Amino acid sequence: MALILGLESSCDETAAALVTSTRDILAHKLAGQEAAHRPFGGVVPEIAARAHVEMLAPLVEAALAEAEVDLSEVDAIAATAGPGLIGGVMVGLVTAKALALASGKPLIAVNHLEGHALSPRLADPDLAFPYLLLLVSGGHCQLLFVRGVGNYARLATTIDDAAGEAFDKTAKLLGLGFPGGPAVERAAKSGDSDMVPLPRPLVGSPEPHFSFAGLKSAVMRARDENRWRPADIAASFQQAVIDCLIDRSRRAIARAEGATAFVVAGGVAANQSVRAALAELAEANGLRFVAPPQWLCTDNAAMIAWAGAERFAAGLTDPLDTPARARWPLDPDAEHARGAGVKA
Ligand code: KG4
Ligand code: ZN
Repeated sequence: MALILGLESSCDETAAALVTSTRDILAHKLAGQEAAHRPFGGVVPEIAARAHVEMLAPLVEAALAEAEVDLSEVDAIAATAGPGLIGGVMVGLVTAKALALASGKPLIAVNHLEGHALSPRLADPDLAFPYLLLLVSGGHCQLLFVRGVGNYARLATTIDDAAGEAFDKTAKLLGLGFPGGPAVERAAKSGDSDMVPLPRPLVGSPEPHFSFAGLKSAVMRARDENRWRPADIAASFQQAVIDCLIDRSRRAIARAEGATAFVVAGGVAANQSVRAALAELAEANGLRFVAPPQWLCTDNAAMIAWAGAERFAAGLTDPLDTPARARWPLDPDAEHARGAGVKA
């Protein structure tokens, strides 16, 4: 049994967790920064980095105290080393390096996307490789064939915005507040999803890629027409995103031969309507559906500690001069998505 300390600081959540290779979550601590970013309607990188500096060390101490564990009892220290907002990533990675150096324990530099990708295996001990993963977060929207630790084939990506980004922008356009995903989901509950005509970008196209920029523009036009209730726009938007995710995932399922399950991870997977639709798709295709609990879908350190545990078990540790990376694809060999902008 190995015990891993995990740190997360790549966006606007500061987090520390202690997780064992046998899936015991001994502690997971998280400090959100919503209040600091709310006046700006989005995450401000410099404010985020400063908040990580203030919060990370106390969270590590709190996690160790809650688990009643001394740093000397930890087997390795894992931290998100990218991709993400570079200032925040550096704070977490440098902290992990300092702890590794002070304790003599190995460092594990975790790709944040691998944290999301492996999180379903922390929640579900029966989830075996390979599986088809829909990774839907604020920064990414990808379909990945997960063959094993560190072994990913990207089947599709977004050619413009990520799905979570579209939720955040829609919330901002409709004045629903920040953070956007949960605000849109809440508003959608009292809206009619058939009311506002919105596009389903790329639905029906042969490659399973995604596009959400046009949908966001359509939301802006619908708002400017001044004839729809915000709740109806929110519900119609959410349904349009779901229709895109379902159509694209269906295509990827057809290509994911040998997959043991259809799995969803990342912040947007916290959305109940999204989860329900994906579960239905999996069932219709005779695949087991796996979604981590909501708290494990949005950014947290338990998933980073768990990815650290999986890498540690595979003998993968990293030198102390490992750099922080703003960009870090899970599948460096993936073909460029046609029509994709720089984000993909
Ligand atoms: O995985 P995550 O916490 O951070 C990134 O790695 O990006 O994902 C955050 C994204 C945000 O865009 C947020 O609006 C979205 O996930 N999100 C949701 C919900 N909760 C979070 N989107 C839709 N419905 C939700 N309930
Ligand atoms: Zn994330």
